[in-house]
Amino acid sequence: MKHIISPTDLSLSELDELLDLSEEIIEDPSKYSEICHGKKLASLFYEPSTRTRLSFEAAMLNLGGNILGFSSADSSSAAKGESVADTIRVISSYADICAIRHPKEGAPLVASHHSSIPVINAGDGGHNHPTQTFTDLLTIKHLKGRLQELTIGFCGDLKFGRTVHSLITALARYSNIKFILISPKELKIPDYIREEILDAKGISYVEVRGLEEVMSYLDILYMTRVQRERFFNEADYVRLKDTYVLDSRKMTLAKEDMLVLHPLPRVNEISTDVDDDPRAVYFKQAQYGVYVRMALIMKLLKLV
Ligand code: NCD
Repeated sequence: MKHIISPTDLSLSELDELLDLSEEIIEDPSKYSEICHGKKLASLFYEPSTRTRLSFEAAMLNLGGNILGFSSADSSSAAKGESVADTIRVISSYADICAIRHPKEGAPLVASHHSSIPVINAGDGGHNHPTQTFTDLLTIKHLKGRLQELTIGFCGDLKFGRTVHSLITALARYSNIKFILISPKELKIPDYIREEILDAKGISYVEVRGLEEVMSYLDILYMTRVQRERFFNEADYVRLKDTYVLDSRKMTLAKEDMLVLHPLPRVNEISTDVDDDPRAVYFKQAQYGVYVRMALIMKLLKLV
């Protein structure tokens, strides 16, 4: 039985298979509409979510399966003090697979140690978010045609943004990838990403403050929200929250085929005047999140 806790829990060839299956679903979303008949997905969300939870649930429903779960810690027995380990032991007998989001780094890993069903990390604190990464990889592969030879700019909250940590980790496995890491000094990537991923693998990267000066080099611009809920004080958040605002004027500096991705939710970091630019693919990206999760559920339940 396989769990997905980190984006590298799939080997490169397993990831290729996942993305190929997702592309099949993009072509024909109803192709596997009965394959999960009689199966149940539990979504255990101890933190707010719109896309991740609903796309997991839509994915299971699209496959003909059923869903159960909770969408806040307050409405679960966590509010009474139950441990994740105890919760998952019980859920294992109610469902066939589960997706768990938790504010504490490592909680899904702990759950996987006590689970008899596949556990998928749907975001653990400021750490990882592997299924968002699979969504991002599918978006890049489908719209750009490749995952190699790319210059990718990450902009915004690179310190607390779990989607950034997971996507850097995943992309570092492909050849000729260059990263341009754009953030204020307070929100730079954590040391463990710099040391254990970038330096350890000899990846080419630069850390800069300004977005405009690097815009013309980018094949992909991955914008992120400043993660208010992970700050220790509100004053720092307020000072940093609007450091970057991508607007249509800045888009004129970019390549004609650059893609703008964002895991969403957006706050102010992308002006709505960018939405109609064909290079802005964040809403399409959210749609692909359903397809990649359909593919992942089928793979983990060993149905394909
Ligand atoms: C992201 C998350 O939860 O980490 N959202 C998502 O899952 N699409 C990004 C964010 O909240 O900023």
